Amino acid sequence: MRVAVLSETDKVETRVAATPETVKKYKALGADVVVQTGAGDAAGFPDSDYEAAGAIIAAHAADTVADADVVLKVRRPAPGELVGYKAGAIVIGIMDPYGQDEALKALADAHVSAFSMELMPRITRAQVMDVLSSQANLAGYRAVIDATGEYGRAMPMMMTAAGTVPAARVFVMGAGVAGLQAIATARRLGAVVTATDVRPAAKEQVESLGGKFVAVEDDEFKQAETSGGYAKEMSADYQAKQAALVAAHIAKQDIVITTALIPGRPAPKLVSRAMVESMKPGSVVIDLAVERGGNCEMSEPGRVVEHQGVKIVGHLNVPGRLAATASSLYARNLYAFVETLVDKDTKNLAVKWDDELVKATCLTRDGAIVHTAFQPTA
Ligand code: NAI
Repeated sequence: MRVAVLSETDKVETRVAATPETVKKYKALGADVVVQTGAGDAAGFPDSDYEAAGAIIAAHAADTVADADVVLKVRRPAPGELVGYKAGAIVIGIMDPYGQDEALKALADAHVSAFSMELMPRITRAQVMDVLSSQANLAGYRAVIDATGEYGRAMPMMMTAAGTVPAARVFVMGAGVAGLQAIATARRLGAVVTATDVRPAAKEQVESLGGKFVAVEDDEFKQAETSGGYAKEMSADYQAKQAALVAAHIAKQDIVITTALIPGRPAPKLVSRAMVESMKPGSVVIDLAVERGGNCEMSEPGRVVEHQGVKIVGHLNVPGRLAATASSLYARNLYAFVETLVDKDTKNLAVKWDDELVKATCLTRDGAIVHTAFQPTA
């Protein structure tokens, strides 16, 4: 079995899909590992560390994927990248498949079996493979660190000889994995933290981290969680009530961190221009949903915008701003999945195509898009 680790072609991507640590594990599983030169540079893993772990370094993408049975990536290979792959090769990454019909067709046409890690079911057996959680947790942490960097004041209350400095007020919108880590991080720094979510289960979690929960808790709210634990898109009526409550609250905040997402849908718009204008100059909005259209009306992907003294931060690839940690966790998530695809005795790939994890994540196989959720419509 041959495992290939490619460099990422997207300029914004700093992470890498395998680390020297996981290369050793693939070797122990009986695999040969080929790493494209420089693949780990942006994450602080030089070629020499991969070599020391037993990998072969290849000069180009084509040499890296040649004869590979498994190709590991962070992002979906662009159509132009799908050259030289072996037919039937397993390609694993964060495929971002929603609304990407052309790209999925290109994967199918390349006759690779593409697996989308973010579709992994959130069941106990697959927790170790949960890339959404491993990366969102770091994004939530980094959002607070980025906020403190942009904010011109201190986070904790300080009683000094020169007088008392008040604690910063931090409001976290969306209390999933990223939001809960943002709450915990802001609390550790001494901020006064409030948070909101549309899922009732979030209330107790926010409170257990020392945050105060702020939400419209009506009948719709009580049913806002899907059986999968995700948020539903809320009615226009609920959104209006939520906006009114949030508007009054945001005007009093120093830092707002938004993390609200609905799987497969654009991010809900939660922070309007008027809300931004109600904030004091020097305040900061961090929009972690910017890649999904943004929770803040004024955020711009990849930019820090200043409006009437309020900074609106729309960094792309926030987990990639902690490239070494994010790569280490992502690489372990991938290894845990690949291990389930290998027969430990023969040391060869032995994919169980009817396994629930395989069925949930496999997008393409034998020249076709096989995932039921992404069938071409025409
Ligand atoms: P996500 O990234 O899809 O969304 C982030 C948060 O935004 C969610 O909490 C969601 O309820 C919230 N949201 C959506 N619309 C909103 C709105 N209009 N206003 C305010 N908040 C809004 O969610 P994530 O982080 O992936 O977590 C989803 C659920 O999955 C949670 O219940 C989490 O605890 C659960 N989970 C379960 C795991 C497991 O069992 N293995 C692992 C990780 C998460």
